[in-house]
Amino acid sequence: MASQLLAKKPLSTIMAEAAETGEHSLKRSLGPVNLVTLGIGAIIGTGIFVLTGPVAATAAGPAILLSFIIAGIGCAFAGLCYAEFAALLPIAGSSYSYAYATLGEIVAWVIGWALVLEYAFGAATVAVGWSGYVGSLLQDIGIPVPPSLSYAPGTQVVLFGGRWAPLASLPASAQATVASLPHVTSSFDLVAFLGILLVTAVLVKGIKESANLNTAIVIVKVSVLLIFIGLGASFLAGHPSLSSANWHPFIPPNAGHFGEFGWTGVLRGAGIIFFAYIGFDAVSTAAQESKNPARDMPIGILGSLVICTALYILVAIVLTGLVSYTRLNVGDPIALGVDVTGVRWGSFLVKIGAIGGLSSTMLVMLLGQTRVFFTMSKDGLLGKWACKVHPTFRTPYVSTTVIGICVALLAASLPIEKLGELTSIGTLFAFTVVCAGVWVLRRAQPALHRPFRTPWVPFVPIMGMLVSLLMMASLHALTWEVFLCWLVLGLVLYFTYGRRHSAVQLALAGSAEREVAREPAQVAP
Ligand code: ALA
Repeated sequence: MASQLLAKKPLSTIMAEAAETGEHSLKRSLGPVNLVTLGIGAIIGTGIFVLTGPVAATAAGPAILLSFIIAGIGCAFAGLCYAEFAALLPIAGSSYSYAYATLGEIVAWVIGWALVLEYAFGAATVAVGWSGYVGSLLQDIGIPVPPSLSYAPGTQVVLFGGRWAPLASLPASAQATVASLPHVTSSFDLVAFLGILLVTAVLVKGIKESANLNTAIVIVKVSVLLIFIGLGASFLAGHPSLSSANWHPFIPPNAGHFGEFGWTGVLRGAGIIFFAYIGFDAVSTAAQESKNPARDMPIGILGSLVICTALYILVAIVLTGLVSYTRLNVGDPIALGVDVTGVRWGSFLVKIGAIGGLSSTMLVMLLGQTRVFFTMSKDGLLGKWACKVHPTFRTPYVSTTVIGICVALLAASLPIEKLGELTSIGTLFAFTVVCAGVWVLRRAQPALHRPFRTPWVPFVPIMGMLVSLLMMASLHALTWEVFLCWLVLGLVLYFTYGRRHSAVQLALAGSAEREVAREPAQVAP
């Protein structure tokens, strides 16, 4: 029984699926540059454009720089492990498929289930960030969205300085006078809801994943961040007293609780801001569309990670130099930073860039979710509805629609910090298992030809696991409770459905029956 739970999908089967060609297979059109831009397109999003502010304001202060470095190091270890698997098993199922080949079915199922947190909750998190920038831009041009329909239910929104803003984002002095200000309690984030429905419609219709369109969006996102870094750095060079005031204390003293400033705040900051790096692993889901995965998967995964890490570190330094961390608990912190430089068009540019850039991140995340469900459904672990393809659009329209509606409701009803933490915990869990898988496979099949070898095994996988587990441990108790409930729900589904319909289990049962049928013939005289 235990061995069946740990039944492995044969490597040869996965490799054969990965090597499939013909009209039912994905088109191999992506080269190394496309893969790096695909990675950057998935990585740069709400993490840097939104979460940087609240994390600095509530957990790490200017030391968010250290949080970015810790999270980046953890991702580098995990990225090296992903690169080995993606080059060896270039298959769209990513970490779910790697776990199926190395650790067994039940672990694969748990990973696939945890990936829902990464992709579906990740898309919802990005949608809330997108809603913040859309709302802010609409206020700028005089078409404000009703404040009761702009934030998660229960958020107190106040009219301050002529603009509607969440109470928590106002300076402490203004918060004291809130009773005298017009205020409402939000009930639904309509903008985030509509954003996800829009992306879902695009996915159902089928995007011809144009590498050129993705490259254009990536150029916009990266340019906006580079312009911010350039404007901010030159402003800080002319106003050295501003940065020295804002960077001191670099690590604000702990406020009396775990995770509120001090070193534990730096660690919690890493656990939350880790969200900003999520996406490099999505490159591995494009492995079946890569022209030369053995060579290009490591380039795509590690190249996009290195470029984004460098950008994030620079943005964190400049932002915390321009604005006191105490004022950064806002939905559009990069725009706030540009405002300090006095460049009027800068803020407008940042908002336009963020809205365009976040749309593509939402799209990639929802697409990733449907691909993972598609692979799980083909393996028999999920109902056939998840791999039902539309006759005209040739997209998995049923699962895309169901997932889209659920994600839209999530985005409309939960605050960004909670969604972001759940995304981080699910992804960190997947990273831990992928690192373990590299180590296990090296021991189980040392002679296997690996086009890319993770260096210093087992040191790198062990460090990848340790840093990921450390970041998971830093997250709020509530996040852990929801995560554990999620896993229990997943196991119930596995034992009531997946296990009975699994193609691997059915094949095992079939060969066992054949064995039994052969036995009498063998003993017959
Ligand atoms: N890394 C992606 C983002 O920050 C998920 O939006």
